[in-house]
Amino acid sequence: MESSRMAQKSWAKTPLWKRAEMLHKAGAILKDHKKPIAECLVKEIAKPATDALTEVVRSGDFVSYCAEEGVRILGKGEFLVSDSFPGNDRTKYCLTSKVPLGVVLAIPPFNYPVNLAVSKIAPALIAGNSLVLKPPTQGAVAALHMVHCFHMAGFPKGLISCVTGKGSEIGDFLTMHPGINCISFTGGDTGISISKKAGMIPLQMELGGKDACIVLDDADLDLAASCIVKGGFSYSGQRCTAVKVVLVVESVADALVKQVNQKVEKLSVGAPEDDCDITPVVTEFSSNFIEGLVMDAKQKGATLCQEYRREGNLIWPLLLDNVRSDMRIAWEEPFGPVLPVIRINSVEEGIRHCNQSNFGLQGCVFTKDINRAIQISDAMEIGTVQINSAPARGPDHFPFQGLKDSGIGSQEIANLDRNIDDMHDKLAL
Ligand code: G3H
Repeated sequence: MESSRMAQKSWAKTPLWKRAEMLHKAGAILKDHKKPIAECLVKEIAKPATDALTEVVRSGDFVSYCAEEGVRILGKGEFLVSDSFPGNDRTKYCLTSKVPLGVVLAIPPFNYPVNLAVSKIAPALIAGNSLVLKPPTQGAVAALHMVHCFHMAGFPKGLISCVTGKGSEIGDFLTMHPGINCISFTGGDTGISISKKAGMIPLQMELGGKDACIVLDDADLDLAASCIVKGGFSYSGQRCTAVKVVLVVESVADALVKQVNQKVEKLSVGAPEDDCDITPVVTEFSSNFIEGLVMDAKQKGATLCQEYRREGNLIWPLLLDNVRSDMRIAWEEPFGPVLPVIRINSVEEGIRHCNQSNFGLQGCVFTKDINRAIQISDAMEIGTVQINSAPARGPDHFPFQGLKDSGIGSQEIANLDRNIDDMHDKLAL
């Protein structure tokens, strides 16, 4: 903590153009080292090989993007004159510019140990902050390789410190340390307890989601089914932006379920090295939790469209039809390759279900009627609504902020503007 504080003091005096130059260099080094880092992701968190490579490349690009944007944003300030406020003469001038916060504690999750670390590191560094990074236990080796790329780019060592360890053992020490000036956390419920324990410092929390996919009777069902499978089963459903519940109007439910099932059957299941679609989930605890949700739904009458199958932490993809709101899986986040379908009698019923959730991260709506799509988007109490597209965080420069238990702290969209993404699809309708 002390070395981080000291390093920050001199870093804040490093000219902005030089900070940007070093970030560009780090981004390029990261991309040069994509293979060994991706191999770590495959081994540590069972990320399919191609996705692992994409994660590293995407991270390098983001570092360069932050350098570019940072120079523009941080190079600007504001100038105010006093007579713009009632009762004042033009006797005072006010100049404002952005200053660093100090030491930022960055805590990324297991599912993106590199990308979600870099998405905290790069903006903090360009703005003149130092970082203490607490990588996830699984993913720590990949994160250490990534930090090494920043050191190779010439960043002074104390500027990015990486502290490994279990959250349950070192988490409180780090998050409650008086030397920390800001916490940026991505993960689950732990974020809520960190928010309660942290002192009076800025917090950025990217937490869970129960991302609803509403399918209307006029939807392009083939497109909807493809997006549901991609959105629900990529990286075995271990994404906060995964489709976590399908809310389909009864009149097209049979047709949609049939199409989704056809695509689910085609998913490959196995080892991440073989680039399989479905790979083992991260821990035994996680597998047991997922199984608990499936068994609860089965016992209460849900239809299992595929046979439930598990070998160790490998769970075969499963669609659960006829899920009702008394089942845990209707509300809880499996973070695994199991996806519930709730049949609804009206769009309003779907919106109600979405808004009754404690979460408010992302969601999507499938319809050919753009007016209805926008009205529904507006009624869904979530950070981002994708129209005719699966939920996703990227492109990585788009604002990403959940409401309710899904997060706080991204200033850019503090006014709760919803993002209506995927303009292409929208305009093509
Ligand atoms: O798990 C949360 C991630 O921020 C999701 O990112 O939509 O790029 O997979 P993604």
